[in-house]
Amino acid sequence: LSGDEIIVVSNREPYIHEWQGEQTIVRRPASGLVTAVEPVMRACSGTWIAHGSGSADREFVDAHDRLMLPPGHKDYALRRIWLSDEEVRGYYNGFANEGLWPLCHMVHIRPTFRESDWETYRAVNRRFADAVVAEAHSEDPVILVQDYHFALLPAMIRERLPRATILAFWHIPWPNPESFGICPWRREILQGMLGSTILGFQTRNHSQNFIETVDRYLEARVEHEHSTISFRGETSFVESYPISIEWPGSAASADWPSPQNCRDEVFSQLGLRAGQRIILGVDRFDYTKGIIERLQAFEHLLQHNPQWIGEVSLLQIAAPTRSALADYQGLHAKVHDMVAALNARFGRAGYTPVILQNVQHDQRWLARLYRAAAVCVVSSLHDGMNLVSKEFVAARDDEQGVLILSRFTGAARELSEALLVNPYHVEDVAQAMQRALLMPADEQRERLASMRMTVQEFNVFRWAGHILSDASRWRLRERIEAR
Ligand code: G6P
Repeated sequence: LSGDEIIVVSNREPYIHEWQGEQTIVRRPASGLVTAVEPVMRACSGTWIAHGSGSADREFVDAHDRLMLPPGHKDYALRRIWLSDEEVRGYYNGFANEGLWPLCHMVHIRPTFRESDWETYRAVNRRFADAVVAEAHSEDPVILVQDYHFALLPAMIRERLPRATILAFWHIPWPNPESFGICPWRREILQGMLGSTILGFQTRNHSQNFIETVDRYLEARVEHEHSTISFRGETSFVESYPISIEWPGSAASADWPSPQNCRDEVFSQLGLRAGQRIILGVDRFDYTKGIIERLQAFEHLLQHNPQWIGEVSLLQIAAPTRSALADYQGLHAKVHDMVAALNARFGRAGYTPVILQNVQHDQRWLARLYRAAAVCVVSSLHDGMNLVSKEFVAARDDEQGVLILSRFTGAARELSEALLVNPYHVEDVAQAMQRALLMPADEQRERLASMRMTVQEFNVFRWAGHILSDASRWRLRERIEAR
């Protein structure tokens, strides 16, 4: 695909400019999508189209709403799209996050479908299609459509750029046909997605679910053997491409203090006693992440293994997200109450059992936390991939530390040397915490060494290379067939 024009579309932008008093700051959002796609854009260049959501975003664009990124470099262009409050309410908060998000994650939160949200979702998808057409300089660009915010975009682009190569990647799980069937606009969503040349999912299970969903609800020709779906004269190839992170290069890791220095820095910042140990959780403050169940497990651990009281703290980073929504507000209240009760029960002078930080940290500080922790716990109830688990593994070049990982993450298929748990089973997670805290250094080293090989090899460039080489094969095939 060298020489081809690349356009990425996502809801979340890779850099957000905000006002802080009279000053502006730029920050990276907490988003697995951005963590994965940004290094690819730095390497491939091209144009990224996304919602300009920051309060100071307009200060940084040119007359065409564009700017070059990353700040201080000019690797790729970002085209910001401005959405009104009403559009954000209907498209982002409403249909995407109250409808599709709970529909696709098996966490027993009931999706809400409103006709008005759906109309706005459709209208916003159309606005992004207009932007793609405006940004495209050639008739056959390669367009990477990201995630559940843009299910309708592939078909909308296909209508206007019939020769484009459209790669849609669904970062979250795809449910089984029965679950998906409750969406009142199931056919429209599937038809929208089938405008893609390639449809990518995180796991084989999700791509199979998608194929079965199409088989159930559309009059399409499904070729199970080849993983292709033909619908109204177009063929889409459906495949799983497990997403990953950029493996830290020597520049990034040169910036890391030794694990002992990380512990000193982190412990003094948090007021922890030297010699104490940290169980670390790093998540967006989202109900899919299993934070409530993790707190229950930690409580169980302290109750049944009182030797850890005073010795082990759970540090939970919970980055703010979607806080306009009632389900997220309810989660905040519940988690804050649980933390207060746990600290009242087990805390004592100089010891706080649970430290909850409802803030977002930058990558530099997160790397220090990963390196300072004895254990990292990812207990998502359901997660497309989960890149925190891979970031923890990448940060531990000392091959020490233990990863506890939910079986219901995409990452569990690759990181099988983690302590795999069922996050709904409180005693199981508590036992894994106990086992992690007692694990001999040799065993930690063996497990981490193996996981580090996996993440280093199957890094995000491998992910992008896999999709893009499948795409170029398809393009060639189409050109040959058109002769
Ligand atoms: C998940 C989604 C991404 C999204 C991220 C953060 O990882 O797959 O599309 O960007 O959550 O959520 P937010 O709503 O803040 O963008």
